[in-house]
Amino acid sequence: MTTVEPIDAITFPAARGGCPFAPPPAYQEALEQRPVTPVSLWDGSRAWLVTRHEDVRAVMGDRRFSADARNAGFPFLSDGRRELAVENPSFIRMDDPEHARFRRMLTGDFIIKRVEALRPEVQRIVDGFLDEMTAHHPPADLVAEFALPVPSLVICMLLGVPYEDHDYFQERSRILLRNHSTAEQVRRARDELSGYIEELAERKANEPDERIISRLVARGDLTRAEVAGMSLLLLVAGHETTANMTALSTLALLRDPVQLARLREDPTLIKGAVEELLRFLSIVQSGTVRVAVETAEVGGTTIEAGEGVVCMLSTANRDGSVFASPDELDVGRDARRHVAFGFGVHQCLGQPLARLELQIALETLIRRLPGLRLAVPVEQLRYRTDTVVYGVEELPVAW
Ligand code: HEM
Repeated sequence: MTTVEPIDAITFPAARGGCPFAPPPAYQEALEQRPVTPVSLWDGSRAWLVTRHEDVRAVMGDRRFSADARNAGFPFLSDGRRELAVENPSFIRMDDPEHARFRRMLTGDFIIKRVEALRPEVQRIVDGFLDEMTAHHPPADLVAEFALPVPSLVICMLLGVPYEDHDYFQERSRILLRNHSTAEQVRRARDELSGYIEELAERKANEPDERIISRLVARGDLTRAEVAGMSLLLLVAGHETTANMTALSTLALLRDPVQLARLREDPTLIKGAVEELLRFLSIVQSGTVRVAVETAEVGGTTIEAGEGVVCMLSTANRDGSVFASPDELDVGRDARRHVAFGFGVHQCLGQPLARLELQIALETLIRRLPGLRLAVPVEQLRYRTDTVVYGVEELPVAW
């Protein structure tokens, strides 16, 4: 076993510093001084924090590092996260070939061509929520009235879930993504959501449609629990991530008038700007977690079988050897090498959809609301630090 001096370990997750968009200073120091560094988790257990771009990609592309939490030594970020990862895991917590079997059933729905075909529909949805938001006097909370409803309605449409039930599943998915949720709270939220989807699947068995849940049911080779697990993963991953990205991107642009003006003057920059915002904000703040199933060397450090690894996407995305002036937001840069969607076989399945939603939501906001501004002093904003996905709790805006 690698011996680790206790004094060296960073407490994980570490506190953020002054800039709300930057990774915690302790991780940034690690990137500069000791890129593979020990961290101490909530229960006193240890894992390795991997911070460099090259090393993060190496771990995530290497089958000696497993995403399956049933392996000994897997690093859990809380008791609640253990519950979610170990009991009836969805394919995000499986290795190939088990993982690939399930993922393959969904890849067709998220290929670029299929997702691009949704552009007019997503534009209509974005315009609709913006019409509603601006129909009354400012201020409005951009999170509740725009950033969350857009991806939520889109993923409901793809899955075939009634959008009217959004309060029910949003409340429960938030419990699943919150670090301090207890195992009991996670179990209850997950069971209720699974029950909800299983019931829906039962109805689809009798009245099929063309949507994802119905098609999974119609295959005939999946149990109801497997259908529910896959659908739940899409439902949870499909709206909280894009929602937080939309709100936080808007805030980052409002706080950087030069970059906002560049985008306003040249809307063709939007695709690249979304990649840059994904890099700059790296909202999956707890990184991606793996456990070594064989001894491996990463960035000169030996990681023994049974030791946990946390790949810090946010520091990898600010690695100066890959991105010049990494702490600057530059909507004109080529940020395509970012790892905000992960890397390797688990790389985000929904990324074409997330890109499409972000491009349309941000372009439309900027075009339609030239006077968009914060309606409260920036110091009053509260951030989501205790969740898998970083974001802003509320974003009061005027226009
Ligand atoms: C800005 C938005 C998003 C970000 C930053 C993001 C980020 C990520 C990351 C980092 C992973 C890799 C996890 C790992 O390796 O352990 C991932 C996986 C995944 N994401 Fe996303 N995601 C976003 C949007 C979406 C959307 C819209 C969907 C669904 C419609 C989605 C569905 C998934 C699924 C199913 C996986 C698991 C893939 C697998 O294990 O093979 N994500 N995402």
